[in-house]
Amino acid sequence: MLAVMAKSKIEHVCSACGASHPKWSGQCTSCGEWNTLVEEFATDPLPVIAPALSAPQPIGDVDPHTSAPVPTGLDELDRVLGGGLVAGSVTLLGGEPGIGKSTLLLQLLAERAGRALYVTAEESAQQVRQRAERLGAVRPELLLQAETALPHITAAVADTAPGIVVVDSIQTVHDPALGSPPGSVVQVRGCAQQLVQIAKQRNVPIVLVGHVTKEGSLAGPRVLEHVVDTVLAFEGERHHALRLLRASKHRFGPTNELGLFEMAGHGLIGVPDPSELFLGDRRTGVPGSAIVPTVEGQRPLVIEVQALTTPAPPNVPARRTTQGVDTNRLALLLAVLQQRARVDVRAHDVYASTVGGVRLAAPGLDLGVCLSVVSAVNDRPLPADLVAFGEVGLGGEVRQVAHAPRRAAEAARLGFRRAIVPRSSPDADGLHLVRVATIAEALAAAGL
Ligand code: TYD
Ligand code: MG
Repeated sequence: MLAVMAKSKIEHVCSACGASHPKWSGQCTSCGEWNTLVEEFATDPLPVIAPALSAPQPIGDVDPHTSAPVPTGLDELDRVLGGGLVAGSVTLLGGEPGIGKSTLLLQLLAERAGRALYVTAEESAQQVRQRAERLGAVRPELLLQAETALPHITAAVADTAPGIVVVDSIQTVHDPALGSPPGSVVQVRGCAQQLVQIAKQRNVPIVLVGHVTKEGSLAGPRVLEHVVDTVLAFEGERHHALRLLRASKHRFGPTNELGLFEMAGHGLIGVPDPSELFLGDRRTGVPGSAIVPTVEGQRPLVIEVQALTTPAPPNVPARRTTQGVDTNRLALLLAVLQQRARVDVRAHDVYASTVGGVRLAAPGLDLGVCLSVVSAVNDRPLPADLVAFGEVGLGGEVRQVAHAPRRAAEAARLGFRRAIVPRSSPDADGLHLVRVATIAEALAAAGL
């Protein structure tokens, strides 16, 4: 082999962003994270030159359809991917352990026709077989390889020529030629890069599983994000059956679509009508509950925001605890309520959450959060047939948000009759709109 085993040296690699530094320090100067630099035994990249993927050609000669997505057969996954998986693309599926990544990918391979290779670098082949039986994924053309060494995996891809490859997980695969220990940034990055080359050369889609740490970042996240075409995040609360799938990077389509699944006894089931699921256990007439129509990507979603307030003990700062609602946003809205609507929230501990654990950062939630907090403080429920949406500004003004007509239409479809909305909202069929300019007007309109 021409490749020369290059000199090895010690470097300090940031486990958050992958930047390498010659010296150790407490903070990564590249991304600003603390205590993320780890010592790694780095090997200079081997001087292996891959065959050219293509020669230059006039742009008009390029076939625009070769990168058309191929549907996976899982509608909620296809929704997030903008149609399906593209040949030759590399997708990283990230999520906390136990969230259902392996389950989702086995279901993907069960649906897909033709030969498929599932590399299990974490679980034994027996464990995967057991899960596959539960999911109805046992089929002759689904090949299973329990392997962690990258050279054996690449050899298997060459030998079996599969139409799709899943590597579960990228953190447990290692390439002995890279020197560093398995799971290190150098290994994860190096192995992912080689798999990307294979995907492009063979024009086969590859899906990599990536574990996410407690803080919500992939080990060596930004490095991997640069290397792959698509990054999907699989989220949800472990004790809740609902699972959310989003794309945070996607070279072949939009990144704002939301896919929803429920974890059931025989795998993940798509949830085509999430509003009904979110409102299924709702109790009306309870103070602190507000209903907000939102739009995630192309899909309208009506969710319940809940707030609970209790008297704060004297001489300690009041607590602000959230789930699904951004904590800083809640603090901002409480300040607006205090200063612009004269609602005294200083002496209250405030807990706010979205039901079902849906994490939404959209400002359209603001008005609903404000109404739920004031409803809780006043111990007075909001009308059961009322929804509200709008962004709340620091001046106490209520601003318009995107997709007002679609939000209103979804609320009307689910049987709501009244909506408190920003002043410029267009009329909506089946919904009586109360247009407000300020948060104080909104509180009055809600009877608070
Ligand atoms: P898994 O796909 O192994 O998660 P990950 O690969 O992200 O670590 O899923 C783990 C959980 O899902 C486990 O707690 C069992 C549960 N599960 C079901 O509830 N139903 C099923 O059909 C399957 C296969 C798993
Ligand atoms: Mg797994």
